[in-house]
Amino acid sequence: MCGIVGYLGDREALEVLVDSLRRLEYRGYDSAGFASIVRSGGANDLEVRKAPGYIDAMASEMERKGARIGIGHTRWATHGVPNQVNAHPHCSCDGTIAVAHNGIIDNHTTLKDELASKGHEFRSQTDSEVIPHLIEEYYDGDLEEAVARAVERLEGSFAFLAIHRDHPDRIVCYREKSPLVLGKGAGEGFIASDVTALLSYTNSFLYMEDGETAVVKADGISVRNRDGDHVDRTWKLVDWRPEDAEKSGFKHFMIKEIHEQPRSMHQTLAGWMSDEDALPPRLVRARTIKIVSCGTSYHAGLLGKYLFERYAGIPTTVEMASEYRYADRTEEDSLVILISQSGETADTIAAAREAKRRGMFTLAVTNVLGSTISREADHTLYLRSGPEIGVAASKTFTSQVMMMYLLSSTIGHRTGHIGRDEFRKVKDGLRSAIRAVEKVLGDTEAVKAQAEWLSSAHHAFFLGRYINFPAALEASLKMKEISYIHSEGYPAGELKHGPLALLQKDTPVIALISDDHTYSKMLGNIGECAARSSPVLVVAPEGDSEVSRYTDRILRYPWIDPMFSPLAISVTMQLLAYYVADLRGCSIDKPRNLAKSVTVE
Ligand code: M6R
Repeated sequence: MCGIVGYLGDREALEVLVDSLRRLEYRGYDSAGFASIVRSGGANDLEVRKAPGYIDAMASEMERKGARIGIGHTRWATHGVPNQVNAHPHCSCDGTIAVAHNGIIDNHTTLKDELASKGHEFRSQTDSEVIPHLIEEYYDGDLEEAVARAVERLEGSFAFLAIHRDHPDRIVCYREKSPLVLGKGAGEGFIASDVTALLSYTNSFLYMEDGETAVVKADGISVRNRDGDHVDRTWKLVDWRPEDAEKSGFKHFMIKEIHEQPRSMHQTLAGWMSDEDALPPRLVRARTIKIVSCGTSYHAGLLGKYLFERYAGIPTTVEMASEYRYADRTEEDSLVILISQSGETADTIAAAREAKRRGMFTLAVTNVLGSTISREADHTLYLRSGPEIGVAASKTFTSQVMMMYLLSSTIGHRTGHIGRDEFRKVKDGLRSAIRAVEKVLGDTEAVKAQAEWLSSAHHAFFLGRYINFPAALEASLKMKEISYIHSEGYPAGELKHGPLALLQKDTPVIALISDDHTYSKMLGNIGECAARSSPVLVVAPEGDSEVSRYTDRILRYPWIDPMFSPLAISVTMQLLAYYVADLRGCSIDKPRNLAKSVTVE
């Protein structure tokens, strides 16, 4: 879950590296570093700069010496605390080789012992440092050969870039279970963990696959597979615009991405129209469905469960990806849906592999073209939300939820579980949900007002029932991850089975209600909380007058068919979490200890 970048060409390498690495900070941001090769006194020098903290802090102090080749790294610590020594790039003993690594080397202890016995001295506590030392051990004038021999010894998940002081014309990169993408321009080559880092420079990309080594030179990029054979894959043109990965005047990426939702939701719907005819028949034949995912994607999956059961009549279970492997059952006719915004979440990828091993048909729902999950699943549906940079998922959540409505109703229609009218109502409902979201975003003053009093809370509960229970879980996750207020999401009916004991006059409860069969029960639950002196904020549709008998703290969302209320409610809750976090002065786009792509299990 670190970010790595490399550049080779005619530009000032450090400028390109700083700029592109800044766009990868969402992958980790506890320390950063750069290595470049510069000419000095008629010889090549390998210069390494690294420091704890954000990239900007160190970038302004780095002298630009006209390097044309370099690598960079932004770190999310796994082995060793975030400090200068543990920051990447790491170097060989003789200081000629530098490596930036993303992933985990599982057998680093054994390798360290072996290399130490041969005289290698390690400076950091990281697993990554074994890579430059191994390359050094095998280096005999040929960097590619040394990398090839080193990777044979490595176990785990790793993508890395290596440069050698005596080879200023090349960057050698390798990928094994961690993402790596190559980009090309005229007389220049780029490497990054993710395309968003490079959108200002190129839109021509090649996604590396496991076991592949690339040698990036100014006059071309060559890729070989595990067997040493040349790989000749088509370069992909990515139509994301550079401004999609900019803040464009917004204070944070998150608020920009929240406001982008009417567009991203439209894109999901429009994309679906072109995909729906090509759905594999296996999807329609599924007797049961298992949805596997993590975090926000898990919440989209939970919502999906209600929708698959309602619109397709297919029994559906939802599992956290990290727990999936511990289940012993094999459901042969089951369709496994893997939801992952990034398509790189290690737990979800491991679950995908396990599902395939058990012989199940796998469907990936992801936002990232060419991501690992899209390459491993039997079929992929793309969200088309555009790049999401803020660590907290927002627009990709609403797209994932839309995908659940679209897929479930299409399967249900094809199997005859729902008729044409109901099928049409789903698409109409989604269009009206987009209009409702537009209205929510058109006037955010009421949300800001509620954020004022909530921002001093230490704990909060989010309650919902039926399809708004997953919305409550997601609202709670948003609140805790960006504002650091401890919060819990609960099915409203479950509160009295324990958590009610925690309610006090300073414990806010946020109740999500819609005008459906859960309405009166939700009112009852709101009453129970108010009776324990908890300040209750009700998120209710416009036109409802009942709730004002229980509380004067009400946030209204535009009235829509209750079946689509989670979309309008979730956007309202994203805004609430955002404004609370902003009032508390939190690092909204890069919350502490988190990273957007969680590529470790
Ligand atoms: O990329 P994925 O959708 O697989 O990511 C899963 C979770 O790591 C992610 O949703 C996480 O919970 C977000 N920080 C939530 O805002």
